[in-house]
Amino acid sequence: MFTMRYIKKMIYALLLAVAAQVATAQIKILYGPYLQNVKENEATIVWVADKPSIGWVELAPNDGTHYYGEERPKYFDTTNGVKNTSLLHAVKVKALTPGTTYRYRIYSQEVLSHEGINVIYGRVAASDVYKKKALTFTTCDPNKKETSFVMINDIHGRENIITKLLNNANYKDKDLIIFNGDMVSEFKDEQTIFNGFMKESIDLFASEKPMYYARGNHETRGEFATSFQKYFSPKEPFLYYLFRQGPVCFIMLDTGEDKPDSDIEYSGITDYDSYRTDQVEWMRKLSGNEDFKQAKYKVVIAHMPPSADLDIWHGQKEVLKKFVPILNELGVDLMLCGHLHRNKYEEPSAGIKFPVLVNSNNSVVSVETDGDRMNLMVLDLDGKVITKKSYTAK
Ligand SMILES: [Fe+2]
Repeated sequence: MFTMRYIKKMIYALLLAVAAQVATAQIKILYGPYLQNVKENEATIVWVADKPSIGWVELAPNDGTHYYGEERPKYFDTTNGVKNTSLLHAVKVKALTPGTTYRYRIYSQEVLSHEGINVIYGRVAASDVYKKKALTFTTCDPNKKETSFVMINDIHGRENIITKLLNNANYKDKDLIIFNGDMVSEFKDEQTIFNGFMKESIDLFASEKPMYYARGNHETRGEFATSFQKYFSPKEPFLYYLFRQGPVCFIMLDTGEDKPDSDIEYSGITDYDSYRTDQVEWMRKLSGNEDFKQAKYKVVIAHMPPSADLDIWHGQKEVLKKFVPILNELGVDLMLCGHLHRNKYEEPSAGIKFPVLVNSNNSVVSVETDGDRMNLMVLDLDGKVITKKSYTAK
């Protein structure tokens, strides 16, 4: 017969054993790494550890030497000179050479306690370079003769269709992948992002092939929506940006929400009309940007398409009223959108002087440049070509 005192002792011992186990459990990389904002001279690498930790990236040239051949330079996840103690890590590596492949390795070292000036560190987790080849990425190159890319959008958390769509567009042969918004229906928490589309994307390509993300209206919803930029474009000033790969200059825009800011659905927390005006101000400066000016093709990526239809919602009207005039002025070649969950194609008109292609929620856009042509295909889930277009460089 066990006495109450004996049972209490046993429970206490068990709790201590569990606590010790938790304290010594090896820190792990939970998600990632994945690439963000790969440009000509820089790239951002993001990952999530399962314990509060400091984080850093090691970079090595892709020169055939063994990764362990020498100590590799370290780039730390910091804010104003202090290493961040966090689960989520983002490191921007700079001063890179255009069109160059780099090997990289990520590290997280657990921070057990930080009291006063004393920091006690725990164990380290890192990506594997012993049993596996080191991860690599290649910087963009404006002088690359040709480029190619694929775009998907409106996945709404259906991660199981990502592989199929990207395979249908032969994503492995393409330079980069574009997510054009509404990858999930609501930004609830971190699990929603990774279970909804990022785990699948990391398994497939995102550790080594650049992914560029234009926010959709559904990413603006939910209590976690303000954390969007911690995960995507984390080291950039804005969610709208420009990048160049080979002959194409990409203008990534954020079209915001679809209803008026005063709508009951937004609970008075949004101000997208002003935000869209800010983007117009930014676009006005693009005519002086060398990457933009010298690009053979100028492609706009924006979630909501412009529309002059009478029964259209406020957000799309704003895209027409605010974005289209400056995009007409800038002489863009093509605008790629999503949002409508159907395929649509509009030829240039007097009002919108460039073609607007809307990709559905069940198809993928595949684009390749070929000299003075830029060839585009839209393929459905069965790999059937549903739209084929070709554009001449202006
Ligand atoms: Fe949408």
